[in-house]
Amino acid sequence: MYTASQLLDKINEHLAGLSLEHSPQTLYQPIRYELALGGKRIRPVLMLMAYNLYREDVASVYAPATGIEIYHNHTLLHDDVMDRADLRRGKPTVHKVWNDNTAILSGDAMLIMAFQQMMHVPAEHQGEVIEWFGRTALEICEGQQMDMDFETRSDVSEPEYIEMIRLKTAVLLAASLRIGALLGNASAQDAENLYRFGMQIGIAFQLQDDLLDVYGDPEVFGKEIGGDILCNKKTYLLIEALNRANKAEREQLTQWLEATEYQPTEKIAAVTALYDRLNIRSVCENKMREHYTLAMESLLAVTVTEERKRELKNLITRLMHRQM
Ligand code: IPE
Ligand code: IPE
Ligand code: MG
Ligand code: MG
Ligand code: MG
Repeated sequence: MYTASQLLDKINEHLAGLSLEHSPQTLYQPIRYELALGGKRIRPVLMLMAYNLYREDVASVYAPATGIEIYHNHTLLHDDVMDRADLRRGKPTVHKVWNDNTAILSGDAMLIMAFQQMMHVPAEHQGEVIEWFGRTALEICEGQQMDMDFETRSDVSEPEYIEMIRLKTAVLLAASLRIGALLGNASAQDAENLYRFGMQIGIAFQLQDDLLDVYGDPEVFGKEIGGDILCNKKTYLLIEALNRANKAEREQLTQWLEATEYQPTEKIAAVTALYDRLNIRSVCENKMREHYTLAMESLLAVTVTEERKRELKNLITRLMHRQM
């Protein structure tokens, strides 16, 4: 069995070896830029780990694992345009270095490259792998559209929020595990339990991302702190703050949500102060733990030895305590 860090090295090596020196440079240079920025590579590592629960020849899964990471980076190019985000992994985003059109088209090219990589699996698995990948990619569009629609709503409920993050974020972690399991010839039941495990981990992962967007260390997080507050994103923090606020606090929050002229730093400070007063940080951490516990229940049902699951458990524990 491989460790998560060994698998990370392998996937990074494989990504670095991709041939991306095509013309025009203006299409491919931003793709090289984004992929070279690094990132945690959590999705391909999960795919390889799921495969490695059943089989040792992980090299046979590098192509689809690379595909899932290229796909993820495709979503980031578009997401940063949609979220007006200027910073990613500590560097200016593609639409800032180039422009929106570049982020759109280089992003599109990455989506196509992702499907090409995903095709490189044994013929007997191709249909099922592409079906899950296509279904997942479409669900992510649904989640991303809900995220945008929620920006202008002030009555988003907690279940609506959870469904939105399930779609925009969790399904990709879940599908990574499912595809790894399918390729490893896991039983349908194991593939389903790994998928459920990934879904709950993915929900906890996005809750953590929302939390770090407010409370993260800007040097480590690599994205602009307070970006979600400026976009009026209906994060778990904001929804819970609105739920828990007294009349005066709710009025204050609503004023900031409706304000059209303000200093960004002032809005971030004011909303964060309200979150602090309402103890939203620990409310969010409790919610994360709930989903972490649900995830572990699904992992428990996977029919490989506890010994073989240990590396996956360790990775998830590190992920839940991450700062980036
Ligand atoms: C960012 O994903 C988008 C979310 C779903 C929160 P990651 O946090 O996995 O980003 P990188 O790839 O490690 O930079
Ligand atoms: C990202 O959600 C979901 C996708 C990229 C599909 P966020 O908008 O919170 O991700 P970050 O914080 O920009 O990475
Ligand atoms: Mg974003
Ligand atoms: Mg977004
Ligand atoms: Mg975020």
